[in-house]
Amino acid sequence: MSQAIQISEYGGPEVLRLVDIDVGEPGPGQVRVRHQACGINFIDVYQRTGLYQNPLPLIPGGEGAGVVEAVGPGVEHLAVGDRVAYAAPRPGSYCQQRVLDALHVCRLPDDIDFETGAAMMLKGLTAQYLLRRTLPVDGLAPGDAILFHAAAGGVGLIACQWAKALGLELIGTAGSDEKCALAREYGAAHVINYRSEDFVARVREITGGKGVKVVYDSVGKDTFDGSLACLRPFGLMAVFGNSSGAPAPVAPATLAAKGSLYLTRPTLFTHLSTRERTQAMADELFQVVRDGSVRIRIDQRYPLADAAQAHRDLEGRRTTGCSVLLA
Ligand SMILES: NC(=O)c1ccc[n+]([C@@H]2O[C@H](COP(=O)([O-])OP(=O)(O)OC[C@H]3O[C@@H](n4cnc5c(N)ncnc54)[C@H](OP(=O)(O)O)[C@@H]3O)[C@@H](O)[C@H]2O)c1
Repeated sequence: MSQAIQISEYGGPEVLRLVDIDVGEPGPGQVRVRHQACGINFIDVYQRTGLYQNPLPLIPGGEGAGVVEAVGPGVEHLAVGDRVAYAAPRPGSYCQQRVLDALHVCRLPDDIDFETGAAMMLKGLTAQYLLRRTLPVDGLAPGDAILFHAAAGGVGLIACQWAKALGLELIGTAGSDEKCALAREYGAAHVINYRSEDFVARVREITGGKGVKVVYDSVGKDTFDGSLACLRPFGLMAVFGNSSGAPAPVAPATLAAKGSLYLTRPTLFTHLSTRERTQAMADELFQVVRDGSVRIRIDQRYPLADAAQAHRDLEGRRTTGCSVLLA
C-alpha cells in the first residue's frame, strides 16, 4: 500500500484527504514511478473545485519526479532505476507512487535534483511553449515588449528569466510590491503592481503609447479586458489560465475594433501530444536550467499530508515561485 491525496467530491481545500491506495502494475506504454516530490500547480485547484471535470474519486496533480520502479510492455525510452520527471495530462501525482503513460515521462539529467525536477516540468514546459511557440504573426525579436501577468508565480518567475535570456523586454505584473521586486530580480525589465496601479496606463507609458506585441494572461477574468487594451495592432492575446476565474466570452468584433488582434487559448498538453515533441521541449528546458539562464525557485515545501494547506496558500495569493509536496 502507498499513500495519496484523494478527493471524492469537488470543493474547498478540505476535500483533499490522505488515503491508502493500491498502485498496481503498469500496462502497455506505462511506467510506475516512486515519487520523491510532486509539483503543485494552479491547475490542481481547478481539478479540486471541478472547474476542470474528471471522474471521482480523483488524485489531483500533474507534475512529479522520482525513480522508475516498473516498466510496461512497449516502453523503450525508460528502464527500471531511471531518475525521471514529468508533466502529465491525467491527474494523479499527489501520491508516493503512481502508474502513468510513459509518453510524458522524461529522464532527468543527473545534475538536476528531484525537487527541482518536480517543480519545473509543468511550469517550465508551459513557459517554453508560450515564449517559443505562442507568438505573434511576425514573431518576437530581441527588444520586443511583452506583458506577462502573475510574474512572481510559478510559471511567472520561469518566464521572466527565459524572456530575458531571449532578449525580450518582459513587463511583469504582480499583486504586491514584494512580488514585483522578486519578478524584477528574476529578469522582468519592468514591473507593475496591478493591485495598486492601472496596468493598462503603465504599459502604454512604458511602451511609448504603442502597446505590446503579446500578452500572456493566466489571471483571466480580472485582467482580460485590460490585457486586450495593452496590445498593439495585430497583437496576440494568449489567455492560458483562470487564476481569478474564467474570462467572459468575447465577440469577434472586439478584436477588429482593437486592431485586428489575435486571440488564443493554448494548453500545454496539445503541445505534449507526441513523445518526440515532449522530449524536444524538455531538452530545451533542461538546457536553460543547466546553463543557469533559468533558476527554479522553490519557495514552499509541504509534506504530502499538508496538500490542503498548500492549496490554501496558493489560492490565497500567499506563494511566490514554485511549491512542492514531498512524497
Ligand atoms: N494553459 C496551460 O497550458 C497552463 C499550464 C500551466 C499553468 N497554467 C496557468 O498558469 C497560471 C499560473 O500557474 P501557477 O501554477 O504558476 O500559479 P501561480 O502563478 O504561482 O499562482 C497564481 C497567481 O495568480 C495570481 N492571481 C491573480 N488573481 C488571483 C486570484 N483572484 N486568486 C488567486 N490568484 C490570483 C496570484 O499572483 P499575484 O498575487 O501576483 O497576482 C497568484 O499567486 C494558472 O492560471 C494556471 O492555470 C496554464
